[in-house]
Amino acid sequence: MAVKQLAYIVFDITPDKLPAMKDIFEKLYQAPVLQGSDGSLKVRLDGRDFRLMLRPGDSDRMAAVGWEVEDKAALEKLVAAVEAADLPVARASAEVCAQRSAQEIATFTDPAGFPVELFIEQPFEQKADFGFVCGEGDNGVFGLGHLVQACGDLQKALSFYKEVLGFFEVDEIDWKEVNADLRFLSCNNRHHSLALINEALGLKGGQIDHVMLQAKSLEQVERAYEALDELGVVLSQTLGEHSNDHVRSFYFLTPAGFRMEFGYGGKVVEDRDSWEFAVYPGPSNWGHEPVNV
Ligand SMILES: [Fe+2]
Repeated sequence: MAVKQLAYIVFDITPDKLPAMKDIFEKLYQAPVLQGSDGSLKVRLDGRDFRLMLRPGDSDRMAAVGWEVEDKAALEKLVAAVEAADLPVARASAEVCAQRSAQEIATFTDPAGFPVELFIEQPFEQKADFGFVCGEGDNGVFGLGHLVQACGDLQKALSFYKEVLGFFEVDEIDWKEVNADLRFLSCNNRHHSLALINEALGLKGGQIDHVMLQAKSLEQVERAYEALDELGVVLSQTLGEHSNDHVRSFYFLTPAGFRMEFGYGGKVVEDRDSWEFAVYPGPSNWGHEPVNV
């Protein structure tokens, strides 16, 4: 039994950067952003109360990665596996569960230092459609997008996510030119919900490289690309196509210091049994040229 989907991410953001972060989601991604009474911003991508939460904080950091599990039995089985891997697990309070719109949450820090929340979802109306491939629908389970985590010990983190949390390794980018090794992990129909990278490209273990959100149309991505300058958003990699999953996307730098990717299309994992693992020598078929570095 494994995790079902990447369901939410919570960031702490220093208050001076919150307005610019809000603009990115509202104007670049064109997603609804609601403001909570505590000043938190909730970014909606589908019917869920929030998929990304930006809380006013003392520093810019990723505060929680919410991995949804199917039910109570799945939660307890995964918690036992995490504890057996010598990672202490705590239970979130009712207040925290309410903030996350979750029924029950088990929290721990993964081997690379990332804050994980395994949780049981609070049922919600699925029908809201804001133009993102997100969550669960008729076509399958996709989650909110994907996340790339840098790890001091890549093999240790990879073993943890595969063997303890049950992720499926779909492929690898062995980018020798820059000594980067990227491992792509799937937990549903999305090609990857999580990618792990060694300490390369200036990343240190415990840092994220980027969060990717997926549009339902290529036009959304192209329009956002055209709007970057007008919105004062700093491009990080030009429009391009990835070698492994064939997603067309671009990358930009957020004011909070991490990058984000906006993409369209790409391979879907229909059947793990017939999936063929592959190793690619670089990340892109075309484009994705680094800029502003
Ligand atoms: Fe990505």
